Amino acid sequence: MIFIDTCFGKKSDVMPIWMMRQAGRYLAEYKATRAKAGDFLSLCKDYKLASEVTLQPVDILDFDAAIIFSDILVVPLEMGLPLRFAAGEGPIFDEIITNIDDVARLDIKAAAKLNYVYDAIKLTREKLAPNKALIGFCGAPWTLATYMIEGQGSKTYAKSKKMLYQEPELMHKLLAKITHVLKEYCENQIKAGANAIQIFDSWANALEPSAYLEFSWKYISELAEYLKTKYPHIAIIAFPKGVGGFIECLEAKIDVLGVDWSTPLQVALKTPYVLQGNLEPCRLYSKQAIKDGVSIIKELVKDKAHIFNLGHGILPDIPVENVRYLIECVRNA
Ligand code: CP3
Repeated sequence: MIFIDTCFGKKSDVMPIWMMRQAGRYLAEYKATRAKAGDFLSLCKDYKLASEVTLQPVDILDFDAAIIFSDILVVPLEMGLPLRFAAGEGPIFDEIITNIDDVARLDIKAAAKLNYVYDAIKLTREKLAPNKALIGFCGAPWTLATYMIEGQGSKTYAKSKKMLYQEPELMHKLLAKITHVLKEYCENQIKAGANAIQIFDSWANALEPSAYLEFSWKYISELAEYLKTKYPHIAIIAFPKGVGGFIECLEAKIDVLGVDWSTPLQVALKTPYVLQGNLEPCRLYSKQAIKDGVSIIKELVKDKAHIFNLGHGILPDIPVENVRYLIECVRNA
């Protein structure tokens, strides 16, 4: 698997490529399967359909890795917070975490209820070609906590940060409980056949550096350490979005650091990790911008092992033809 070899620092002749949100609405085939499932959460919970959409981008576009189709928010859902996706609004939790009783009520055995994810991984690994990697994933404890405290996405994260500064012990209790569940969740994904685990910290940039290290990276690091000790052959990827300003402070037992598009690769190259990223996703609107973006990244990473990816998820209105062109540029240019 050139993807896994590259995660462990071995450079191959061709740079491996996959894309965050590669199974998504820019693909007509995804939209057809999603329509069959009814709604987004039903698609996540139907392991056969989830496996089908996981395989689509690899079958259609020949990416080097598949990422299991699910969502980071199935974890808080199974910890006991009802989740719905409102059209045009994104995810919503109608019950939120405000105090210690709420934290105590969360189900610490939630990983045992996520069989639909493990079944989708098992089926997908059986169907995927042996040279293609299967990536499992979870949300970082901090990013999951923000959804559980805010109830939805937020511009300011004020409720979460109010808890962090007014009641830091409560915040740590919540983060520790989520981390406990994630250890078992990621471990079960590995046992089901995932070759790598990516930890998405999408709202890393909400925190000042010292708070980030104490309330987010500490838990990512604990999770990575747990998985790496038990499963050294599994690649661990962390994607803390928007932390370019203090990226050199991020020490953990991870193999790969995902770089978002606002962080210069020159800066990320100073870390000891293999890098993944970081094409600005909107470059996919223009073939010229794709070509230029790919050559800038290749020039910067030179002869280092590197995983090509976008600097965040692909947008739903990107033409599939442009994705094909991107892959061609990465492999042939
Ligand atoms: O990358 C992949 O192809 C795997 C599948 C995947 C999804 N969500 C499917 C999805 C992954 C890895 C995620 C992670 C996720 N989910 C993150 C972290 C990554 C990031 O984008 O920062 C976050 C923050 C979420 C929470 C979430 N789920 C939001 C904010 C939304 C709504 C935004 C949107 O694009 O509509 C979702 C829904 C969601 N998750 C969709 C998909 C394909 C769109 C649902 C649909 O089909 O209508």
